Amino acid sequence: MSQSVLFVCLGNICRSPLAEAALRQECADAGLNVIIDSAGTGDWHVGQPPDERAQAAAVRNGIDIGHLRARQVTAADFHDFDHIIALDNQNLRDLSAMRPAKADSKLSLLFDHVAGRAGEDVADPYYGEAAAFDQTWAEVTDAAATIRNWLAAD
Ligand code: 4NP
Repeated sequence: MSQSVLFVCLGNICRSPLAEAALRQECADAGLNVIIDSAGTGDWHVGQPPDERAQAAAVRNGIDIGHLRARQVTAADFHDFDHIIALDNQNLRDLSAMRPAKADSKLSLLFDHVAGRAGEDVADPYYGEAAAFDQTWAEVTDAAATIRNWLAAD
């Protein structure tokens, strides 16, 4: 059975769609069959494509994420996904609070998968400059490489 990973940020239009795209590419390159999705803890952008600056950052790295649509995380996600990975500590707290009592998914922080950066937030680029989205891309691709490795070893 294939493994599954859900990335969660606040709006699901900036950080988590980029993390989804980065891990998709890593897994495709490695020939790994992994179900990958993303969602937001908030509902403000449900149904919307990723922020244009996130789309542009992905295109700069050869990936089109324009087809993605934001959705809000649900209780069912805690049963449907093996791994739920929060982009920052507030997302992690919000996910812990809504986690159903009997749910198998493993909850973690994205930077806990990057050596030397455990406990850190992926900074929210929403109110930043375009360059902030390139930094987000660099951070999520770092994590995606490590996550790909442990998925391959599982
Ligand atoms: P994201 O960024 O959580 O990385 O998708 C944000 C997008 C929208 C908002 C906040 C953060 N917002 O407040 O609308």
